[in-house]
Amino acid sequence: MCLTVNIYYTGKNGSAKEFVQEMISKGIVDQIRNEKGNKRYEYFFPENDPETVLLIDCWENQEALDFHHKSPMMEQIEELRNKYDLKMKVEQYTTVSKNNQDFETVIRCRTATRKFKDKKVELEKINKILEAGRLAPTAKNLQPQKIYVATSNESLEKIDIVSPCRYGAPTVLIVCSDKNVAWMKEDYSTYEMDACIVATHMMLEATNVGIDNIWIEMFDKQELKKQLNLEDNIEPICLIPIGYKADDYQGNPLHNKRKDLKHIAKFI
Ligand SMILES: Cc1cc2nc3c(=O)[nH]c(=O)nc-3n(C[C@H](O)[C@H](O)[C@H](O)COP(=O)(O)O)c2cc1C
Repeated sequence: MCLTVNIYYTGKNGSAKEFVQEMISKGIVDQIRNEKGNKRYEYFFPENDPETVLLIDCWENQEALDFHHKSPMMEQIEELRNKYDLKMKVEQYTTVSKNNQDFETVIRCRTATRKFKDKKVELEKINKILEAGRLAPTAKNLQPQKIYVATSNESLEKIDIVSPCRYGAPTVLIVCSDKNVAWMKEDYSTYEMDACIVATHMMLEATNVGIDNIWIEMFDKQELKKQLNLEDNIEPICLIPIGYKADDYQGNPLHNKRKDLKHIAKFI
């Protein structure tokens, strides 16, 4: 079981954002993230409502949430909420997944991160993310994916040579596809599709284990092949910088700008 709480804080003249900034600068957010049983404590800034901030926090069980409610942090949060005169709307729901967040939360929380902290990603989390890439479906189950994990300074420097979009991430997944392995149809190969599914699996698993990420297309593929000494048949498809987002990262303004369902889906 996993408990997710969504809290919408609303205030006038950007006071909800100021509230979040003070929560971060006072170290309250970091302390809560380190509380026993906390799986996520994340603020979002809905683009269509500048007066509101959405907090999504997930807890392992009711006991952890009760403990959090009794912690000294709650008093500080209450004080700040009064200071900024914020209204609060709370939604709480329970999910059945054992150790992970529910799928709905993962797909809503995944967002492009363009500023990372200088904090390493734990090896066990990297391995979980890679495992999600291993389990991805591929055409005819041929599994052409090749994933290179850049963590050393030397490898990260190579990434910086080929792309301006590492955004300070301490680890970059380089998702490639082996053209000699992928399904070759008459006039095209599925090597790119396969790798894109693998990359998507990994991004979602990264979010699931609390690791921020972004899909990067903007990189020099030929130069990367040269830097990594890749064989001709190994085609780089995308980069996925992963890590922990910087405290002052304001979020991707496009994240909440999705088209209405009626513009993208049609029952026929
Ligand atoms: C195929 C693809 C290529 C992308 N390339 C880049 C890129 O080169 N640089 C970058 O900063 N963001 C890149 N992004 C991130 C998108 O801009 C971002 O996903 C989009 O604005 C939607 O926002 P969200 O991911 O926060 O929901 C890319 C995303 C996708 C799916």
